[in-house]
Amino acid sequence: MSEPKFEPRVFSGAQPSGNLTLGNYLGALRRWVAMQDEGLETIYCVVDLHAITVWQDPAKLAHATRELAAAYLACGLNPARSILFNQSQVPAHAELAWIFNCVARLGWLNRMTQFKDKAGKDREAASAGLYVYPNLMAADILVYHATHVPVGEDQKQHVELTRDIAAKFNHDFGTPFFPLAEPIIEGAATRVMSLRDGSKKMSKSDPSDMSRINLSDDADTIAQKIRKARTDAEPLPDSLTLLADRPEARNLLTIYAALAEQPPETVLEEFAGAPFSVFKPALAELAVARLGPITARMTELMADPAEIDRILGDGADRAAAIAEPILARSYEIVGLVRSRQI
Ligand code: TYM
Repeated sequence: MSEPKFEPRVFSGAQPSGNLTLGNYLGALRRWVAMQDEGLETIYCVVDLHAITVWQDPAKLAHATRELAAAYLACGLNPARSILFNQSQVPAHAELAWIFNCVARLGWLNRMTQFKDKAGKDREAASAGLYVYPNLMAADILVYHATHVPVGEDQKQHVELTRDIAAKFNHDFGTPFFPLAEPIIEGAATRVMSLRDGSKKMSKSDPSDMSRINLSDDADTIAQKIRKARTDAEPLPDSLTLLADRPEARNLLTIYAALAEQPPETVLEEFAGAPFSVFKPALAELAVARLGPITARMTELMADPAEIDRILGDGADRAAAIAEPILARSYEIVGLVRSRQI
């Protein structure tokens, strides 16, 4: 099979399942803005259909969807340069996901570590949607023939599964129709850890709000969370290698470096020998300076939800215009008869 040339196209998304965290911002959103500003074709989605794989209160889901869209805009995504929309307004995602449910193998899904983490001990009680979620994620990406997928470290396995699905579809139907999308895992903080436990990822679903910084936190809350962040008793060392066995200290340093847009080594040059009673206030000040304007802009945007809905609706129209012909061709390749006059 000769490889067709796919034009570079970026796709990514985040779930409206609660507050956006500093991890989402540093690991994903900030990279999305950079890719938009490089002039690439960029499509960013609020993945509401993914959110309902676990229970969501309907009124809160609608609010969280708009709030996440506000966060996209406040971080610097621009609807004139990127397509911004919510997933459920473009039915092609769910339709292609069905085809992928029939391409992906159970054995592949059984290896997904995020399903194991999210389903927890009572796997029998998890929704079927949570189990086939990676197939929907593959559809999100491939229904646009996207080639580049900027994500944090935790989504790497899902993007790899997307490649496996594309390769199997192409092989089974004998046509190189879908691109093998590449995960783009770049930047200083591709895996921001919990402030309470340096071995766990910072996550919007962690029961402890003290474990994360939310983009909606005010300055006092951010300062308090950083002050209370777990650390050890040693001061900061002068070399990164000496942080290898100090996950909490390393995490705070990584966060500082990412927010300051400096290499961690440079930050260590400044703070070598400093105790956390000195480093933490400096980190809090930096975090507030970087996140404060985003939070303020989000609040302004949320005052006009009709405008957010308008942006999402317009983005969905533009997204559908790309997705629909790709879905139609997928149906044809599979052999599904399409004879409606529309
Ligand atoms: P979600 O909503 O959990 O997270 C959104 C993005 O934030 C990144 N991220 C982190 N990065 C660094 N450190 C952390 N602690 C951290 N926590 C989250 C995630 O890696 C992600 O990039 N399944 C996806 C959403 C999705 C998607 C897609 C992504 C659905 N379809 C298609 C890309 C392409 C998710 O649940 O992300």
